[in-house]
Amino acid sequence: MPPGLTTGSAPAQAAALIAARRPGWAPRAGMILGSGLGGVTAALADATVIPYGDLPGFPVPSVSGHAGRLVLGRLGGVPVACLAGRQHWYEGAGLDGMTVAVRCLRRLGCEMLVLTCAAGSLRPEVGAGRLMMVVDHINLLGANPLTGPNDNAFGPRFPAMAGAWDAGLSARLRRVAARQGVPLAEGVYAAMPGPSFETPAEIRMLARLGADAVGMSMVPECLIARHCGMAVVGCAVITNLAQGEPGLETAEREPVDHERTLAAAGAATAQVARLVAGFLEDWGDDRTGRESVGTG
Ligand code: HPA
Repeated sequence: MPPGLTTGSAPAQAAALIAARRPGWAPRAGMILGSGLGGVTAALADATVIPYGDLPGFPVPSVSGHAGRLVLGRLGGVPVACLAGRQHWYEGAGLDGMTVAVRCLRRLGCEMLVLTCAAGSLRPEVGAGRLMMVVDHINLLGANPLTGPNDNAFGPRFPAMAGAWDAGLSARLRRVAARQGVPLAEGVYAAMPGPSFETPAEIRMLARLGADAVGMSMVPECLIARHCGMAVVGCAVITNLAQGEPGLETAEREPVDHERTLAAAGAATAQVARLVAGFLEDWGDDRTGRESVGTG
């Protein structure tokens, strides 16, 4: 057990149930699949599927494109625990919908969390179908899942967020993408509360704030994971150009809607699976025989 993660809590109870379903399974990396990306689980070898409904404290996603299944298996040779589906702030169940699930991954032994999502691009040259590695975020949800009494068993009251998106892991993802010939953009991800898409004025605001992509997820999970000591790396699938970015006229923009988002993310599934598998293989090779949580 990673230090500090006490037994008896919901994450520990969920971890015990998972251990009973798959005795001896010790995932080293966790993964969260965003809208339309659930198909990535097909790339997992030797998979065990556990519905979220069987696991105490796990969310019940209410949005199409989010399956609500934990899939255990190997990707790139690394034992992983993959959360196919997330709960979002806009679903109205609070901001801590993913807290137990993420802490459970840590309790199972995951050192790292790979976050994926669908996002709109604020950079006209990075259009639908492209992948963007997240190098930092701006939390505009107006809320934080770490609000409330702090559980010191998981992490500190005031966790630092400089380096939240791990520079070493990001460099590794960049290298693997280059090796695979996958053009990987990089940028700052702004989390907006949704569920409405942004107005053109909001997109112009986000561009001025320094955002390169916009979405409605990922940031809460990053905060929870960093709080309990997991290294985080992230990749957004660009599903559309965000509405209103400077320099792009209306005729060149497809209207954004959830179905288009799911379709565009679904089309990128095989590429995301291959990239993450290559990344994990590279990481696993390097870390064989090494012990401590670290980055790079
Ligand atoms: N805005 C917010 N979330 C999104 C978008 C967008 O344009 N595309 C996919 N998720």
